[in-house]
Amino acid sequence: MLIRSSDQNPRYTLLKRFPVPRNFKTDRSSRITRGKLWPAPSRAAKIKRLEVYRYDPDKSANPRLDTYEVDIEDCGPMVLDALIKIKNEIDPTLTFRRSCREGICGSCAMNIDGTNWLACTRFLSETANPAAIYPLNHLPIIKDLVPDLTHLYAQYESIEPWLQSATAAPDRERRQSPEDRHRLDGYYECILCFCCTAGCPSHWWNGDRFLGPAALLQAWRWLADSRDEATGKRLDELEDPFRLYRCHTILNCTRTCPKGLNPGRAIAEIKKMIIQRSS
Ligand code: SF4
Ligand code: SF4
Ligand code: FES
Repeated sequence: MLIRSSDQNPRYTLLKRFPVPRNFKTDRSSRITRGKLWPAPSRAAKIKRLEVYRYDPDKSANPRLDTYEVDIEDCGPMVLDALIKIKNEIDPTLTFRRSCREGICGSCAMNIDGTNWLACTRFLSETANPAAIYPLNHLPIIKDLVPDLTHLYAQYESIEPWLQSATAAPDRERRQSPEDRHRLDGYYECILCFCCTAGCPSHWWNGDRFLGPAALLQAWRWLADSRDEATGKRLDELEDPFRLYRCHTILNCTRTCPKGLNPGRAIAEIKKMIIQRSS
C-alpha cells in the first residue's frame, strides 16, 4: 500500500516496531540503557510520554532512552511540536534537525514508533504511548536524533542531479510539453529526507556501493526529463551489479516515503530502460 498522507497510517500501533529485542547482539558499549525520566509538571492536563534516543559523542556513556512527559493540551499536534517543547521548556540539550515545519525541507526525518517519517507531519495522536523516537536507522549518529548524512549526499552527488544538455541554451527557458512535464510527477517532489534509504535493507548491507532508493529515484527523475541529453552516460554509470542491481524490490522504501513517492517504481523504470536500450 502506498502511504500518501499521514492520515493513512493506521492508528493502531500494534506490531509497528520490528519485533526484535532492543540491543539484540549489539556490542556492550553500544547498548541502549534506560535514561532519565523527565516528569510533567503537576498542573499538566493531559500527559503524553515520549521515549527519545539520546547519544552524546563527547561523553563516554552508552546511548540511553530518556522519557519525557509532555502536556499535550499545551503543545502543538505534531511529534515535532513535542520535541520543540521539550527542547524549549524541559531539556535544552536534546538535539534534532528541523527547519520548515511543514514537510518540505526533509530535515526532521527520524524513526517514530519503528517507521521512518517526518516528525513535523506525524500526529502525536497517531503514535504509541510512550512514543518511541529514534534517529533514522543504520546511519552514524552525530548527536541524539541527528544522523550523519555525508555519505548519502555523496551518493546523491554521484548521480549528477542537474540538467545536462549539448543543445545550446535557448534565450528563454527550455520548454517541455505538458505530457513530458507530467512524466516527472511522483519524482520531482522528493525532498531528500532519506527515510527510504535509511529503511532499505540492501543499503544497510551494501550502502558503500549500492546507491539506495533516494539517489536512484533522483537518477530516474533526470532520465525521465525530456530536456536532459545525458541519458546514455547516466545509464552507463548506473548499470552496475551494486549501484543499481542491489535493489531486490522489497519496497520498504515505497512503504516508508512520507511524501507518498514510489522509489521502488523509479528503480524498476531504470532497469527497464537499461533492458530496452540493449534489445
Ligand atoms: S525496493 Fe530496492 S531500494 Fe527499495 S527498500 Fe527494497 S531493496 Fe531498497
Ligand atoms: S523518495 Fe521519499 S523517502 Fe526517499 S528521500 Fe525522497 S521524499 Fe524522502
Ligand atoms: S521540519 Fe522540514 S520536513 Fe519537517
